[in-house]
Amino acid sequence: MNKARTAVLISGRGSNMMALVDAARDPGFPAEIVCVVSNKLDAKGLNFAAANGIPTKVIDHKAYPTREAFETALDDHLRAMKVEIIALAGFMRVLTAGFIAGWQGRMINIHPSLLPAYKGLHTHERVLADGAKTHGCSVHLVTAELDDGPVLLQKAVPVLPDDTPDSLAARVLIEEHKIYPKALAMLAGRLAKKDTP
Ligand code: GRF
Repeated sequence: MNKARTAVLISGRGSNMMALVDAARDPGFPAEIVCVVSNKLDAKGLNFAAANGIPTKVIDHKAYPTREAFETALDDHLRAMKVEIIALAGFMRVLTAGFIAGWQGRMINIHPSLLPAYKGLHTHERVLADGAKTHGCSVHLVTAELDDGPVLLQKAVPVLPDDTPDSLAARVLIEEHKIYPKALAMLAGRLAKKDTP
């Protein structure tokens, strides 16, 4: 099987990256995680990736004079690794429209809300402050508008009366780890069909 070469971009803990790596161990999974890239040297997820034999790379955004210069270094690395799909997994840099255009239809993100509700940061706190009864997570294609591209998969979870941001985040995270591998497999499957002559 021709597996889609996938890079996972992280900035921290990397639990969604771990879920993708674990899913990709299945011989029938249509994507292969070929590298994990972090913009932060101390991202905890880097240790897991390295321990699992996945090439890691730190591209520290602070080492570049502009956002574009950072993105050029990132793009160069991804192209050198012959990456076909980018999966953002807690990657905390906003990407420019120029970078995104170069990966149109090939870059996905996991977001902790039922998009289009609660774009942006601190979703769990905002859901609780609003007294919403339902929350969840979404995987979407990345477009130039933040947290706005077409949704591939979503999963809802209930908001319980005694929830704190942490308890709610933990309930959502369990579902994130399920839908992200499924969405990556969907996209890899779609691209494989498209690329078949
Ligand atoms: C997740 O909640 C994800 O939805 C959001 O950032 C968090 C990253 O967590 N984009 P992790 O680094 O994957 O553990």
